[in-house]
Amino acid sequence: MDKLVIEGGISLKGTVTVSGAKNSVLPLLAACLLTNERCRIKNVPNLRDVNTMIKILRSLGAQAEFSNGEVTVEAKSLKSHTADYKLVSTMRASFCVLGPLLGRLRKAKVSLPGGCIIGLRPVDLHLKGIMALGAKVEVQGGYIVVEAKELRGASMYLGGGFGSSVLATDNVMMAAVLAKGKTVIESAACEPEVVDLANFLNKMGAKIKGHGTPCIEIEGVRHLHGTDYHVIPDRIEAGTLVLAAAITQGDCVIKGAFKEHLGALLDKLNESGVKIEDADGGLRIKPRKTLKPVNFTTLPYPGFPTDMQAQVMSLMSVTPGISVITEKIYPDRFMHVAELHRMGANIMREGPHAIISGKKSLSGAPVMASDLRASAALVLASLVAKGRSEVSRIYHLDRGYENLELKFQKLGARIWREKE
Ligand code: UD1
Repeated sequence: MDKLVIEGGISLKGTVTVSGAKNSVLPLLAACLLTNERCRIKNVPNLRDVNTMIKILRSLGAQAEFSNGEVTVEAKSLKSHTADYKLVSTMRASFCVLGPLLGRLRKAKVSLPGGCIIGLRPVDLHLKGIMALGAKVEVQGGYIVVEAKELRGASMYLGGGFGSSVLATDNVMMAAVLAKGKTVIESAACEPEVVDLANFLNKMGAKIKGHGTPCIEIEGVRHLHGTDYHVIPDRIEAGTLVLAAAITQGDCVIKGAFKEHLGALLDKLNESGVKIEDADGGLRIKPRKTLKPVNFTTLPYPGFPTDMQAQVMSLMSVTPGISVITEKIYPDRFMHVAELHRMGANIMREGPHAIISGKKSLSGAPVMASDLRASAALVLASLVAKGRSEVSRIYHLDRGYENLELKFQKLGARIWREKE
């Protein structure tokens, strides 16, 4: 296992480029199962989760190769319709092979993803949508088994207690593209990654309209073909890099940080006083000494992303004053709070709220990463803390950030990887 060692207190300076979006690539790779022709996906980050998805595709009988930021998938014939527990349990997003397998083979057996450190993550909306298309669903030995003689387009409402679901929208969209007739998904997720998937499917010959809005319409087609596709930049990585510049009072250009994908985050950072300007192909963050505390609530897109909650908490921990964060997507996603305490942060947790009493500074400490975004929050806090920090269990970070420490090194940070 690796850890990151960070000596904090350096203002970051320079230019850095955001990698391709993990949350786009994973469903896009799954979507390659919908055709027997070759698909080529470009701008793919070299991440543990991407490699897990490639292993799943291979286990199903597809050929998949990854080199130089490009993945080529050819699913000429599939030898299995079962996505194994060993692989699915390591990455929840692998559940999104359910829709393509059902679309292509009319049957799928996918392990239930199981528990997750950020709380309960049910799949009822995925199943509701799949059943509306005419599939029979059963749970057998920890697996979801779905089967349909024929998939028929249908109208459905996919909103749940916490709003829309990204992967449920993806799964249903991928099954519906090869269904007979028209499907209408109401309360569909509007995230840019859902739009990216719909654009990819349309390039493969699907007929999808309305993606990016809460009402998606899909006219089923008989056949999809292979295509080439360039993945959008990762908006969560972009946001994390923007915050790294802000928290260290740095001066950085973040190439690939698209304003239109980061609206809610940039709005809060503007309110706090972070200086953000347009730059060639991205955003420039300029130094600003005093920031103001801000309150926010996480919501489905275009609301404030839950995947940025932990990182902004780190910024608020060093912003004098009181800020209140309300987590409405995963009310238990606060594992980073106890670790930030170890660095001297003053945060009180009250149900889905975290109340942060910002301090002038934090002090470096050994801390432990608990999940992907919590790890990023600890790295950000370490970049600004006085002294040396060690962030252990960074395999979480490696699931979703490509070469993050190299990017920070390029911006002047004292950060390196060591064996634990
Ligand atoms: C995706 C992202 C993840 C992000 C999350 C919320 C990927 C690969 N992952 O995960 O990084 O944190 O969106 O923005 O894109 N829910 C149900 N029933 C369901 C499905 C979800 O109640 O069947 C609930 C969840 O518990 C959660 C909310 O809906 O409270 C949103 O979850 P969802 O959008 O499904 O998250 P994922 O797609 O798994």
